[in-house]
Amino acid sequence: MANENKLQAIIAHAKEYGFVFPSSEIYDGMGAVYDYGQWGAELKRNVRDYWWRWMTQMNEQNIVGIDAAIFMHPTTWKASGHVDNFSDPMIDNKDSKKRYRVDHLIEGFAETLPQEQSEALLAEMDKLIAADDFAGLKTLIENNKIKCAVSGTSNWTDVRQFNLMFSTEVGSVAEEANTIYLRPETAQGIFVNFLNVQKSGRMKIPFGIAQVGKAFRNEIVARGFIFRMREFEQMEMQFFVRPGTQKQWYEYWKEKRMEWHMTLGIPADRYRFHDHVKLAHYADAACDIEYNFPMGFKELEGIHSRTDFDLKNHQEYSKKKMQYFDADLDENGKAYGNYIPYVIETSIGLDRTILMLMSEAYEEQDLSTEEKQDSRVVMKFIPRLAPIKLAVLPLTKKDGLPEIANTLMQECKQHFKCFFEEKDTIGKRYRRMDAIGTPFCVTIDHQTKEDNTVTIRYRDSMEQERVPMSEVKNIVMKAINE
Ligand code: GAP
Repeated sequence: MANENKLQAIIAHAKEYGFVFPSSEIYDGMGAVYDYGQWGAELKRNVRDYWWRWMTQMNEQNIVGIDAAIFMHPTTWKASGHVDNFSDPMIDNKDSKKRYRVDHLIEGFAETLPQEQSEALLAEMDKLIAADDFAGLKTLIENNKIKCAVSGTSNWTDVRQFNLMFSTEVGSVAEEANTIYLRPETAQGIFVNFLNVQKSGRMKIPFGIAQVGKAFRNEIVARGFIFRMREFEQMEMQFFVRPGTQKQWYEYWKEKRMEWHMTLGIPADRYRFHDHVKLAHYADAACDIEYNFPMGFKELEGIHSRTDFDLKNHQEYSKKKMQYFDADLDENGKAYGNYIPYVIETSIGLDRTILMLMSEAYEEQDLSTEEKQDSRVVMKFIPRLAPIKLAVLPLTKKDGLPEIANTLMQECKQHFKCFFEEKDTIGKRYRRMDAIGTPFCVTIDHQTKEDNTVTIRYRDSMEQERVPMSEVKNIVMKAINE
């Protein structure tokens, strides 16, 4: 399936089967804001929980999790550099009044060029962006006669910077009101709590603090479904290390995060590393883990060596010491003493992970035989992440079969998410479960009443086998824990 078609098919499927809906759709929706439906919310929760457990429970490093507030003291964003630096170069088309992020505008145009020309254009763009050369970027757009998709003209304004943070006000009356920001990253909630966690948890360096939560960015060009949203969720971890060791920990986390991705059942060649050309204002090394989305290879996760930038600035702005006392001895037998730790960050978008999992899982299969036309859409989620693990399906609504099915439900739902359905033919019910990605379906039929066996049907192979009903829970549990 062509890539653009695949993304459209996933968007349609996500809506039809309760994964993702456009936000406030009855009022015609809101750009780049989405709601997760009943199965999308389960999938998202499974990914979030898995990431959390992998970081804070299964990890060989000492990592704890926190849950900081979205609202933070406004000085936080001054100290972090977001007030001054969290902006993108934008350009407006004077005829359509449409605003574009300059890199997206040029990238979109580059996609229409032959490969060699496209690469040369993007290399030129990277150079100009790295040099903050806005006049040069405008000239590049004009020389290439890049047009606005709406007006079709090349009547452009100058290139200007726009801050991406959303602001709001606290305080009941205007005179007392204080401008605050919706956090554009969860990381700062970790930095401002560094000392609280270190002291209350008696944490010894190296250690990590993890957090999952909402972040908000006023993305100007928001496209690609849940790839680029204005309200999204991040899963971030800041790992605090001794200054001078950051390079080795950066390499360590690159490798570890890729190991995590390999546990999602996605082939290695669907990922690649991409080193940053232009480093963010806080980093001394940075790369992305990119995934081959239907729109091509794009950033999924960032791994950043953030130096002591954040803690040092919070120390300066808050006038509170952000130091750690390291009693360990160096090679000369002297304690390392007081220092501001360096930080390696791993930051992955939960929504982008969901888009990756949906893209990878989505498959349209032609099952036609000589006798009849047939097809199905199947979502091949690994059992650990699938929204529903087991569907319990009595063959008919009578003869005591629903009651037997219910006893199996009662037993299994204590351990994992199950779904009970007695309406429609078994074939139709199987297809609906395939479309949601349920790895196991169990049918209770008349033979069950005689010998306590059921038919278990495997989603991917569509094979069926007869197993004792008492075995079902173990079969599913084993698959979830694989
Ligand atoms: N604390 C570092 C940080 O926020 P980032 O590269 O700007 O770094 C990290 O964002 C991750 O957050 C990205 O790799 C991406 O997965 C996700 N992300 C960023 N902006 C997003 C958006 N507008 N919509 C969805 N996910 C986004």
